[in-house]
Amino acid sequence: MKIWQYIPARLAHALAPWGLGFYAAARDYPTFNWDSFQWKNLFFANRLGIAGGVDKNATMTASWQRLGVGFLEIGTVTPMAQSPNPGKIFGRDWENRNLWNKMGFPNDGSEDVYYNLCQAKTELRIPVFVNIGKNRNSKNSDAENEYLFLIEKFQAIADAFVINVSSPNTAGLRELQTQAWLESLLRRATTVAKGKPVLVKLSPDMDEDELQGSLKGSVAGGCSGFILTNTTLSRPPNCSFAKDGGLSGKDLAEKSKNLLKLTLSALKDKRKDLLIISVGGILCPEDVAERLALGADLVQTYSGLVFYGPEIFKDTAQLMNQPDVSRNVSA
Ligand SMILES: Cc1cc2nc3c(=O)[nH]c(=O)nc-3n(C[C@H](O)[C@H](O)[C@H](O)COP(=O)(O)O)c2cc1C
Repeated sequence: MKIWQYIPARLAHALAPWGLGFYAAARDYPTFNWDSFQWKNLFFANRLGIAGGVDKNATMTASWQRLGVGFLEIGTVTPMAQSPNPGKIFGRDWENRNLWNKMGFPNDGSEDVYYNLCQAKTELRIPVFVNIGKNRNSKNSDAENEYLFLIEKFQAIADAFVINVSSPNTAGLRELQTQAWLESLLRRATTVAKGKPVLVKLSPDMDEDELQGSLKGSVAGGCSGFILTNTTLSRPPNCSFAKDGGLSGKDLAEKSKNLLKLTLSALKDKRKDLLIISVGGILCPEDVAERLALGADLVQTYSGLVFYGPEIFKDTAQLMNQPDVSRNVSA
């Protein structure tokens, strides 16, 4: 039982930054070392990080680092600040360990987030991915320019970029996952990023052809890896969440694993140093081990922070440092 279980979902979400601050202040773990690896010029002491949307404005980075995470992803940040979608935007199902959200990229905007990250960076010793998205009121025909603007803005300070074209909560965003659009964006994005890796975060709701198209276009455009997956529009039987909005947690796990397997198999011969990050339904240390065994290079969690709690980083380190836990189990 977690204390935050007894607080209404929206309030618990609003209080989370304070709760985390107090929680982390009483701890100062080192960045846990397990399964460390070097990718390009980035060193990952361990392979478990926080997912996009957890620290949207880069205001909690020091706390996450104190809890021992291997890497951070901040954002989604958009060019201009924007508020959440109207109405109910967050729900939890404790029994089934699922979350639901319809947030729609609420964030303080690129100017403020850039400032926050510059302040935070001096203390950070772990890689920071910057997740970027378009503003909800701008047209898809302007999206490419918005992504390029954001990459230019954060180029000097981000360790890597995540192109978010997969949130279900910004109308029309997922239409940008086509082969042609991604190839065109990535060609320009990689130039503006000046050597900083650019990854693409994909939706779990694509069919196999759509996935192949997204992968092909992104790789042809020069992307450095993929994050699989964002939240899903599908619902398990008897689900009480609204039909719109994204579901994450336990009932996303199978879809996320399936996309991971399809992606690994599609990229088998062209994998080179593409980084594959798995996220979706990773709720405990054993899930981390399973996803790595399936072939992911890194893993992330959002729902795990709610249903397991922030000790997931320490407990995962403990599990992964046991001699009989190997990530080299092939899927
Ligand atoms: C409340 C909430 C907000 C989210 N916000 C973002 C976001 O801003 N950008 C993003 O790329 N993903 C966002 N996500 C998706 C997560 O990064 C992740 O892909 C998804 O929740 C699946 O992981 P999980 O099962 O561990 O929650 C959000 C998820 C939740 C639950």
